[in-house]
Amino acid sequence: MDKLIIEGGNRLVGTVKVSGAKNSALPLMAATLLTGGEFTLTNVPGLKDIETFSTLLSHFGAKVSENIDNTVTIDTTNVNQTDAPYELVKTMRASVLALGPLLARFKKARVSMPGGCAIGARPIDIHLKGLEALGAKVEVEHGYVIVSAEELTGADIALDFPTVTGTANLMLAAVFAKGTTTITGAAKEPEIEDLERALTDMGAKVEGAGTDTIKITGVEADALRAIEYRVMPDRIEAGTFMVAAAMTTGNVLIEDCPKDNLQALIEKLKSSGAKITTEAGGLRVTGDKPIKSVDITTAPYPGFPTDMQAQMMAMMTISSGLSVISETIFENRFMHVAELRRMGAKIRTDKKNAVINGVRELSGAEIMATDLRASASLVLAGLVANGKTTISRIYHLDRGYEKIEDKLNKLGADIKRVHNDNK
Ligand code: EPZ
Repeated sequence: MDKLIIEGGNRLVGTVKVSGAKNSALPLMAATLLTGGEFTLTNVPGLKDIETFSTLLSHFGAKVSENIDNTVTIDTTNVNQTDAPYELVKTMRASVLALGPLLARFKKARVSMPGGCAIGARPIDIHLKGLEALGAKVEVEHGYVIVSAEELTGADIALDFPTVTGTANLMLAAVFAKGTTTITGAAKEPEIEDLERALTDMGAKVEGAGTDTIKITGVEADALRAIEYRVMPDRIEAGTFMVAAAMTTGNVLIEDCPKDNLQALIEKLKSSGAKITTEAGGLRVTGDKPIKSVDITTAPYPGFPTDMQAQMMAMMTISSGLSVISETIFENRFMHVAELRRMGAKIRTDKKNAVINGVRELSGAEIMATDLRASASLVLAGLVANGKTTISRIYHLDRGYEKIEDKLNKLGADIKRVHNDNK
C-alpha cells in the first residue's frame, strides 16, 4: 500500500486549480441509468470512487470510457442488469445511488446494503422510506435491498434528516412517477442543485434544489435524453487547499473555487486570521500568524460542512488558544484525533466534541489514514510539522483527492509518494 512522506515547514505559494466534485459526479453518473443513450460528463475528477462507480455502471451493462482528460462517456443503451453485488458496493457506499434510477427505469433493483464505514453506521432507512412512499415494495434480505413496483406514484415525502444521497436517490426515483413528488426537509447541498440542473437538461421536471423543498413532476420515460454535462467544482477539495494555505502562512490563489458554496468555511478562516480575497482568477487565501482559535459545529448545508471538520481540526492544533469542535452529523468522525496526538497535538474528545489546545508546533511522526477526510487532515498536519511525517493507508486519500501531492508540491510542499506493494 502506498505511503506519503512529507517534510514539513514549507509555506504554500502559487496557484492551484480545483477538480470536479466527487459528490456531484457520483449522483450524476447514477442519473445516466435513467435512460438509454451516450452521456458525456466533463470535469470529472480522477478518483478511485469514480472508477468504482464506472465499474458498477459497466456491471449494469453500460459502456463506460476511461476518465481521460477528466472526461467520461457513458453509454447506457444496453443497461439490462438491476443487481449490484456486495463485492462492488462494499468498497463504496455511494453505490446506493443506483437504487433510485434503476427502480425508476426498470421498476426493480437489488443492491447490496452498503455496510457502515469508519465514520459511522450510515443507515439508508430514510432512502427506503421514501421509495416506499413512491409505491415501491422494499425488502431487505441476505444483506441486499430489493425494491420493486408495478408503477411509481408521486408522493409527499418528509425526510427525517436532510440526507444528501437520500435526497438525490429520491429525486432520481421520482423522475417518472405519475403526478407530483414533493420532498420536504431535503438536503440543500450545492451538489443537489448540480443534479437538478443535469436532470432538467435531460428533460426531467425538477425544481427547488438548494432549498428544503424539492418538487418533481413525473414525465414519460421517452421524455429523457442523454446529455453532455460539466461537473461542478469540488467545494471540499477547494476548502482543503484554503486551510492548507492558511496553516502554512502561505499565499495561494485557488482557481475554479466555488466560493459561494464555502461561506461557512470562509467566515471561520477569516476569524482565525486568514486573509481571503476574490480575484479574477479565483479566491486568494493568505495565512498569518498567530492562527486564532475558533469554535466549529458541523451542520447540514449551508452550515459548516462535516467534510471540512478534520481539516479545520488540523489547523486548530497549532492555533494560539483553545477551540471546541462539535461533530453533529456523523457519530464517529474523530478518527484523525489519535493520529494528530501522535504528532504532539493536544486534543481531548467525548462523543461529539473535541477540545483542542493549540501547541506551538507539531512534530513529524509515522501515522495512519483511517478515512477520506481524516487522511486530508493528516496531510495538512504534515505540511506544518517539524521534520518528516509518514502517512500509511493513503488509499483513503485517493478516493477523494485527485493527485493531491502533485498539486501541493507545485505550491512548494515537499511530499513523496512511496509505493509499498508488499504491505
Ligand atoms: C454525503 O454522504 C457525502 N457523500 C458525504 O461525504 C458527506 O459527509 C455527507 O453527505 C454529509 O454531508 C456523498 O455525497 C457521496 P447523509 P451521505 O445521508 O449522503 C444519517 C466525503 O467525505 N442518515 O447526509 O451518506 C447518517 O447516518 C463523504 O466526501 C440516516 O440516519 O450522508 C448521518 O448521520 C463522507 N438515515 C447523516 O444522516 C439515512 O437514510 C448524514 O448522512 C441517511 C442518512
